[in-house]
Amino acid sequence: MKYRMVERPDLAPLVTFVPNKNLPVHRWFYYKEGFSRDLVQMLLDSFSPSSVLDPFVGSGTTVLTAKENGIAGTGADVHPVALLAARVKTYDYDIPETMRWIEWAMKLKPEPYSVDSVKKFLRQFFLPKNLGKILWYRDKIWNEVEDRKVRDLLTLALMNASLRSSFAFKDGAIVKVRRRPVPPIENSFRRELKKFYVDLDVHPSGKAPSLIVEADARNLPFEDESFDAVITSPPYLNKIEYARVYSIEEELFFPGKRKSPVRSFVGLKLLDRGYLHTLDLYVEDLRNSIEEMYRVLRRGGNVAIVIAGSYIKELNLIFEADVEVARMAEEVGFKVKKIVVARKLWATVKRTRKVGQVRESIVLLKKE
Ligand SMILES: C[S@@+](CC[C@H](N)C(=O)[O-])C[C@H]1O[C@@H](n2cnc3c(N)ncnc32)[C@H](O)[C@@H]1O
Repeated sequence: MKYRMVERPDLAPLVTFVPNKNLPVHRWFYYKEGFSRDLVQMLLDSFSPSSVLDPFVGSGTTVLTAKENGIAGTGADVHPVALLAARVKTYDYDIPETMRWIEWAMKLKPEPYSVDSVKKFLRQFFLPKNLGKILWYRDKIWNEVEDRKVRDLLTLALMNASLRSSFAFKDGAIVKVRRRPVPPIENSFRRELKKFYVDLDVHPSGKAPSLIVEADARNLPFEDESFDAVITSPPYLNKIEYARVYSIEEELFFPGKRKSPVRSFVGLKLLDRGYLHTLDLYVEDLRNSIEEMYRVLRRGGNVAIVIAGSYIKELNLIFEADVEVARMAEEVGFKVKKIVVARKLWATVKRTRKVGQVRESIVLLKKE
C-alpha cells in the first residue's frame, strides 16, 4: 500500500451522527448522514485552525463545533433541508428575543385547514388533521415572524415535529408509509420547541462568526487561500439519494423550490447510463471538489475527508474511496499524511451474502 494506513476501530462511533443525538444544539436536527461533534473536536484540537471550511456541510456539525470552540466556520451545501438545519444551528441569536418567539409558538392554537389541494404524495404520510395543522402552523410562522433567524428556527422545529407525527419510515435510501399511532402535531411541535428553548441557554451565539452558503463544492464562491482547514464528508457513492429521502420535508417546507440535483447525488437517472459511467462521474465530482479544497486552503493548512467505499454489484467491484481520494489529492498537490480507517463494513448482496469489506476512513491531507 502506497499510503500510510492506520486502523482506529475506536473511532467507529465518531464517524456517525449517533453521539450527537443528545448534545445540545447538535440534536436540533438528526442527520443520519452526518458525523459527530467529537470527531470534529478531535480534528480541531489537532489542526488548531483559526478558520475552517466544510464544503459538504450537511447539518452543520463542523461549523457548529468550530463555533463552540470560538473558531470561524464556513459551510456550503446544495440541499435545502441541510442548509436550513446548518443555518439554524449556527446563527447568532438574540437569545431572549428568540425565547419569546418560542413561547409565542408554544401558545398557538391551530385551526382546521383544508388539505384537499395538497398533493397525494404528501397526504399518504399524514392523518388529514395533522397535515392541516402543520400547514396552518407553517403559514402562521411564515406570515407573522419577520426575523429570518427566528422564522428558520421555528420552521426547523416544525419540520422535526411533522416527521414525528407522520407515517414516514425512512428505510435506508427510501421513505415508506408505515401506518401507526402518531402523536397530535401540537404535542410534537411543543416537544421540539421545548428542546430548542432549553438548548438556547448554551447556544454558542456570538462566540465566532459562522456562515452557511448555498454553493456547490465543485465550484466554491470563495477566494483562493481563505481557510486554515477543511473538515468534511462528501456523499458516499450510491449510499443515499438525498433528493428522495428528504422529499416530505422539501414538499412541505420548500414548496416551489426548483430541485437541482447535482451529480454528487449519485443515483437518479444517471444509473440508466450504466454503473461505470456513474462511478466515473462520482470520481470526477470528488476530484473537482478536492481541487477546490486545495485552492481555497492556505499553505500549511490541513484537510480531513471522511469517506466510505462501496461495493458495486453490477461490476462486482469494491470501490476503495479512501485510496481514490488520497490518489487524487496527491495529484492535485496535497501531501497525503495518512488514511485513518475507522470502520470496516461488510458489503452484502440481498442483505445477507457477504461479498467483501469496505472501509470508512478519515483521509488526512496537508497543503505544504
Ligand atoms: C455526508 S453529508 C455531510 C454531513 C455532515 N458532515 C454532518 O455532520 O451533518 C454530505 C452532504 O453533501 C451535500 N452535497 C451533495 N452534493 C454536493 C455538492 N455538489 N456541493 C455541496 N454539497 C453537496 C449533501 O446535500 C449532504 O448534505
